[in-house]
Amino acid sequence: MKIAVLPGDGIGTEIVAEAVKVLNVLDLKFEMETALVGGAAYEAHGHPLPESTLKLAKDADAVLFGAVGDWKYDKLDRPLRPEQAILGLRKNLGLFANFRPAICYEQLVGASSLKPELIAGLDILIIRELTGDIYFGQPRGRRTAVDGHFPGAEEAFDTMRYSRPEIERIARVAFEAARKRSKRVTSVDKANVLETFQFWKDVVTEVHKDYPDVELDHMYVDNAAMQLVRAPKKFDVVVTGNMFGDILSDEAAMLTGSIGMLPSASLNSSNQGLYEPSHGSAPDIAGKGIANPLATILSAAMMLRFSLNQPQAADRIESAVKDVLASGLRTADIWSEGNAGSASLRKVGTREMGDAVVAAITKTITKG
Ligand code: IPM
Ligand code: MG
Repeated sequence: MKIAVLPGDGIGTEIVAEAVKVLNVLDLKFEMETALVGGAAYEAHGHPLPESTLKLAKDADAVLFGAVGDWKYDKLDRPLRPEQAILGLRKNLGLFANFRPAICYEQLVGASSLKPELIAGLDILIIRELTGDIYFGQPRGRRTAVDGHFPGAEEAFDTMRYSRPEIERIARVAFEAARKRSKRVTSVDKANVLETFQFWKDVVTEVHKDYPDVELDHMYVDNAAMQLVRAPKKFDVVVTGNMFGDILSDEAAMLTGSIGMLPSASLNSSNQGLYEPSHGSAPDIAGKGIANPLATILSAAMMLRFSLNQPQAADRIESAVKDVLASGLRTADIWSEGNAGSASLRKVGTREMGDAVVAAITKTITKG
């Protein structure tokens, strides 16, 4: 089992280190190799996704990814910015299916900005198409940019497009995923305004004919954004394009009050995958040892399940994370000042949280 480890920038290195620690206590044989990506790779090699990093990722069964980006790169020409590394990995590895679960952990109900009854038990799965849409439209790079901006320009544009096969394959992924859950899919579009998303809606409807056991409804993206805060539990599987999925998945993640807890998987048609936390590189807290490593640790669990065919090891990590939360450990992002008086809760840093997960796993291994 070959894993390319790409920590990236900001808190990326700190949280990935914890996930690697967790993988190493599982009694499984991994070949792990680490490489630079994002701003860190730009500093060292002049490019956010060097050939050597891309090759390592392509040759691996799975990529464990931290996060990329820092405001200090905002002046770089767009192709050299850290974000291009993750976009390049997605495109080059064909990682078209992005799974972004939004799960509300029982112990963290109070961390949400919504009323507890709205989100208790929330478990939705956003499936975002990841290699098409306006993110990869034509023309790209036909620009007169100076320092990444357009002084004096009269217009700028990006084009939105989807092909039939691109929509068909992501629709199938969503219907298959729904079959393993509550058999409901909401396809999110903007068919009332955009040709691309009328086409999206038509193709999803056609593919649905092969899945008569799954219920399908369609929703405009603005309404979906509203329904997500009004009655999030009405959703189960949500499938949408790259751009809307980017926005809705952040919204859904934060509903749970704990974006620091949510993993994600990006898969291609041969189940090779990239696994990363749903949050970003958080340069404001980088190096302080306070970031929550659980989203990355849970991403490693998704990696074991989807790409490495080790579902039991994945279960073991996930139940260790639940144990650690139940034992009262909280990183700053899931800590509220109201907790301070509670004897059962304790604020911890990145490393202590990782160590606690390791300890919970070793305990279950010893118990057999
Ligand atoms: C995400 C991020 C990326 C995206 C950025 C970093 C390019 O926001 O994974 O959601 O827009 O896809
Ligand atoms: Mg995003």
